[in-house]
Amino acid sequence: MNSRSFCLYIFTAFIFLRCLSSTEAATCHPDDEAGLLAFKAGITRDPSGILSTWKKGTACCSWSGVGCLTNRVTGLQITGDPDVAGSYLSGTISPSLAKLQHLEGFYFTNLRNITGPFPQFLYLLPKLNTVYITDTGLSGPLPANIGALSQLGQLGLNGNRFTGPIPSSISDLTRLFQLNLGNNLLTGTIPFGISKLNLLFSLNLGGNRLSGTIPDIFKSMTKLQSILLSRNGFSGNLPPSIASLRPNLLSIDLSQNKLSGTIPTFLSNFKILDKLDLSRNRFSGVVPTSLANMPKLFHLNLAYNFLTGPVPAVKNVEGIASLDLSYNKFNFKTIPEWATSSRSIYSLKLAKCGINMNFEEWKPVNPHIYFYIDLSENEISGSPVKFLSLARNLFEFQASRNKLRFDIGKLTNLSPRLETLDLSKNLVFGKVPTTLATLKKLNLSHNHLCGKLPATKFQARAFVGNDCLCGSPLPPCKA
Ligand SMILES: *[C@@H]1O[C@H](CO)[C@@H](O)[C@H](O)[C@H]1NC(C)=O
Ligand SMILES: *[C@@H]1O[C@H](CO)[C@@H](O)[C@H](O)[C@H]1NC(C)=O
Repeated sequence: MNSRSFCLYIFTAFIFLRCLSSTEAATCHPDDEAGLLAFKAGITRDPSGILSTWKKGTACCSWSGVGCLTNRVTGLQITGDPDVAGSYLSGTISPSLAKLQHLEGFYFTNLRNITGPFPQFLYLLPKLNTVYITDTGLSGPLPANIGALSQLGQLGLNGNRFTGPIPSSISDLTRLFQLNLGNNLLTGTIPFGISKLNLLFSLNLGGNRLSGTIPDIFKSMTKLQSILLSRNGFSGNLPPSIASLRPNLLSIDLSQNKLSGTIPTFLSNFKILDKLDLSRNRFSGVVPTSLANMPKLFHLNLAYNFLTGPVPAVKNVEGIASLDLSYNKFNFKTIPEWATSSRSIYSLKLAKCGINMNFEEWKPVNPHIYFYIDLSENEISGSPVKFLSLARNLFEFQASRNKLRFDIGKLTNLSPRLETLDLSKNLVFGKVPTTLATLKKLNLSHNHLCGKLPATKFQARAFVGNDCLCGSPLPPCKA
């Protein structure tokens, strides 16, 4: 072979390989192509062109949202943009997606205008291990035979309009490590069979219409790291088997139910629990002193219950990060020292906790780390002016219905991030400074303010009940 024919040979081989790879890329398994195009045909509107790359005869593995392994479609991920109004796909999910026989993962999110029942084609996909159909317009009951999807490891159906009970066959989904049925319209009780899902590390049933007691299901579910059952109608006491979750539980949110009884002392054995939210229930009795022994408890919310004090000092190394004890039967007198001394606290909510200290006696170690403060409905006197000038990251300061007495004209050096200021029903006096006119929410009603208001977008009710305020939106000042 002379050098010239060698070059030709290389060139030909190159062309051949190019052709081979491009035909390879251009191919699409006929079943996959047919399934995907039938899906596209079921879409009646695609205003932002999510499926515009899906064209017959082109390489379906390169279509947007389509993922392949060895030239078969293994993943389908279609996501709407919640920030662009009117951008969503409209239509239904074609049963022809059953042709994607190698599909492992089906991800459908933020598609409010996709409607119809729970898709039946999922049962016909032998390799499926992950289903996320979240924030779509799907509705109707969850199918009674949902347990037939027994190969699933992850099932997310949150944010739809599924109704009816959680099917008892859910107990057959024994490979699940993640189950999210949150934010639907599910009714009935938690089926006891969920106790068989002992690989679960995350369980979310929040934001439904579930009721009854929380069954005693947790004994074998020791891998659970996160439980979210908030915003339902659960009643009764906490089931004792929650104690079994001690080794791995990081977060438990049971807020906004009708749970009652006392807070169990066994919680102190939860050495890695980071978040405990029992707010807006009917828990009563004393907060167990053992709560003090939870070294990783950073987020504690017990607001809106019938709990009595004293509350033990929750003292982990960096201190509590967010604390809400509002609206119980506490009578703290002062802001608890363990909150004041926390080096990581960004949210402190102690409304109606019987605090009657002088604000100037409160000496938080890090004023600049607070984002949210709610001290409404206490008997706090004195002035927050100095604190408000130091709290450079504060978004919200709520202190209505106290006995604060200071010149509001001194509130000129505020956090540049401040959005909400509620000082209604206090003893605040002086003239309203222009610095307050730019906030998002303001309530200065029922104080002793006087003088002409600065130009403001707020309505009169933000200023009513003062001594002699005048100017828009209140009646004009007398000349
Ligand atoms: C849903 O479709 C309707 C018209 O059928 C449209 O007006 C609406 O904006 C769509 N919603 C979204 C979020 O895309
Ligand atoms: C302002 O505060 C008063 C007294 O606390 C309350 O009754 C009223 O609803 C509040 N108004 C607004 C607009 O927040």
